[in-house]
Amino acid sequence: MGKIVLTGDRPTGKLHLGHYVGSLRKRLEIQAEGDYEKMYVMIADSQALTDNFLNPEKIRDSVKEIALDYLACGIDPKKVTIFIQSMIPELCEYTFYFLNLVSLSRLERNPTVKTEIKLKQFDNSIPVGFLCYPVSQTADITLFKATDIPVGVDQLPMLEQANEIVKKFNNIYGELLVECKGILPDNEAAFRLPGIDGKNKMSKSLGNCIYLSDDSKTVYEKVMKMYTDPAHVTVDLPGKIEGNVVFTYLDVFSKESDFPKYLPEFKNLADLKEKYQHGGVGDVKIKKFLYQILEELLTPIREKRKELENNLDSVYEILEKGTMEAREVAKQNLKDFKKAMKINYFEP
Ligand code: TRP
Repeated sequence: MGKIVLTGDRPTGKLHLGHYVGSLRKRLEIQAEGDYEKMYVMIADSQALTDNFLNPEKIRDSVKEIALDYLACGIDPKKVTIFIQSMIPELCEYTFYFLNLVSLSRLERNPTVKTEIKLKQFDNSIPVGFLCYPVSQTADITLFKATDIPVGVDQLPMLEQANEIVKKFNNIYGELLVECKGILPDNEAAFRLPGIDGKNKMSKSLGNCIYLSDDSKTVYEKVMKMYTDPAHVTVDLPGKIEGNVVFTYLDVFSKESDFPKYLPEFKNLADLKEKYQHGGVGDVKIKKFLYQILEELLTPIREKRKELENNLDSVYEILEKGTMEAREVAKQNLKDFKKAMKINYFEP
């Protein structure tokens, strides 16, 4: 059997450049190569509700925004099944039985969840649903027999936990579920794209994002605000590369061919870095260069998004069709699952 690719995003807002380089770009590559049996992209609204249960409107609205972002970036519904998590009730059944296969202390050790708990200041009142979302994520992956999961590094603990549950399940109920592996971005600088403030990972809650749907002017302003080297106050002073967000972004987004096009006085990124460190290259110059590169990426996405926004019915049709398709697979696979667990009472 070929690869089954599955991945998803929590709909808690529009997608930003961190999402793009962390996983979207890889998905588009996989889609273009076409070397898979099936590919799913899931909008994880149930998971988003585990820490946004007070905000159902926000999640509902973000489902639409994320669908627009996917399609605008080029996720092709003819090649990829896009679906909404909460519309697949079979996922809840998998989750319920998986909860037996994991201990509370194991859940509390998950480093990504731990960080999130701190960030959200749950302190001693962690919602059980939130703590258990990695178990529901295991259901997302295994229900569709997914083997390849394009994700950012912060999701690796989820995949590790999923594979532990898979092993345990197979041990007890027989070899049914498949283990998965994470597919990371090629470029290490993309693992944790910093926000424009340079302090933290790009994240909506920190207000340091460049969104895929930002207009040109907004992108320009955000790039101009980017953190560089605070000691680089005049052009002729040497500048630092480490921790300089503009260079981190150039590592991730620039190509060799951008130099003759936008910055012909430098041979390539290594040359630009060397001269910047030496002194004589201003921040505005490197920022304008980055802006041009980002605009080349974002302009077509923005245009496609506008088109789709004017045709929302077609977007919902795509979601509904994808969800129906995923549901059929889910129903089928649940049968084997129940059989393995000996809870298929009325089946011949
Ligand atoms: N936890 C992922 C995120 O925060 C979203 C997600 C839910 C997911 N289910 C998944 C990712 C299954 C990969 C596979 O972005």
